[in-house]
Amino acid sequence: MELSTLATRILFADTLEGKLFLPPGGLSALTDRLPGEARAWSAPSRPQALAIASRNQRVKFPHPDNFGDPQMAIRALHTFANHELMAVELMAWALLAYPDAPAPFRAGLTRLIVDEQRHLSLYVDRIAELGATFGDLPVNDHFWRCAPELSTPLKWVCAMNLTFEQGNLDHAPFFEECFQKGGDEESARIMNIIYEDEIHHVGFGARWLEYFRPEHQSSFETYVQNLTFHNEPTRGRGEHFDANARRRAGLDQDFIEAMESTT
Ligand SMILES: [Fe+2]
Ligand SMILES: [Fe+2]
Repeated sequence: MELSTLATRILFADTLEGKLFLPPGGLSALTDRLPGEARAWSAPSRPQALAIASRNQRVKFPHPDNFGDPQMAIRALHTFANHELMAVELMAWALLAYPDAPAPFRAGLTRLIVDEQRHLSLYVDRIAELGATFGDLPVNDHFWRCAPELSTPLKWVCAMNLTFEQGNLDHAPFFEECFQKGGDEESARIMNIIYEDEIHHVGFGARWLEYFRPEHQSSFETYVQNLTFHNEPTRGRGEHFDANARRRAGLDQDFIEAMESTT
């Protein structure tokens, strides 16, 4: 199966199974001989239960002290599952939006899709174990609102890998601790899996930032210059800054220090 076919199937799937689709044989069954023309931006299809909700329908994210209450755990996991769903979709969208991107960029992106599908499944299953269904609560479209401006692979990497996912290097361990304090070891374990994978995803961003970076600019300058107006560097970090995770991702020391000093 061609990557563009896979991406189209995922993006326009109207079932959760469709969002999790991979051809039999997985990555080894995929080819990229016909990336096609750049596709104009369009919003994803969704199962009805996961349609983007209006702002006044949204539920409040639980207080960190309340993750031991299963209803609050469901709320938190539901929010995280929605982030994974948007990540899957935005990665599929990128395969369609950037047919001319280097082949290793497109291949790497496809590996990230598989990871994000796995993350989505982990959350969906955990929500079910706690007695609810993904789609029971309203979902927002935060990542999607940024998409129309991501006109180049570099801007995409800066938004997705180096802002949303970089922020998760701080958020995931924090929420792991919240679940642990609440006695929910299983949800804590999932947060740790996500954290380890996210280091690789930020690493993908770090490698392509370096690839696209003009020689006269630092990596941090290139990052800031390619952020679209919905994003700013502060969104790429949490309260508890994890410099070591960023080093493991391959971000350079100057970039890490610049991130740490953004408030
Ligand atoms: Fe993820
Ligand atoms: Fe990720």
